[in-house]
Amino acid sequence: MSEKELKYKEIIPQIQAVIAGETDLVANTANVIAILKQTFNWFWVGVYFVKDKELVLGPFQGPIACTRIAFNKGVCGVSWAKKETILVDNVHEFPGHISCNPASKSEIVIPVFDEKKEVSFILDIDSDKLNRFDKTDSIYLNQIVKLLEK
Ligand code: SME
Repeated sequence: MSEKELKYKEIIPQIQAVIAGETDLVANTANVIAILKQTFNWFWVGVYFVKDKELVLGPFQGPIACTRIAFNKGVCGVSWAKKETILVDNVHEFPGHISCNPASKSEIVIPVFDEKKEVSFILDIDSDKLNRFDKTDSIYLNQIVKLLEK
């Protein structure tokens, strides 16, 4: 098992414990983001909530970021529109990528669903290195966001 997989396996029970008994989504996403940032030291980890047909910045760790993203715009908006996890090896090759910070080079975006199977928020993780995310990240991060789904 890779070192990365081991780290994911370690933090999943930690995340379950931290969110157990708390129903507030802002509080829970804030703690999950803190665990991810501390464990993997990625450049930027945060969430955008779907509000009034836009994505609006929620809890995050890293440099300041764009506050609003339109439907189908940037990696986040496309993930929302397609309801799919998107892995980007090189953000400069993604048409319409929104550059909140020039240091960001690769990213993974995961949509999170409500009980009607609509996207309620997205998890956005950016790295300052190219090709930082792969199938392993997608599998484990999808498991983690499932814990936050209502
Ligand atoms: N990378 C995103 C924009 C958000 S920031 O990177 C925090 C995108 O293109 O959707």
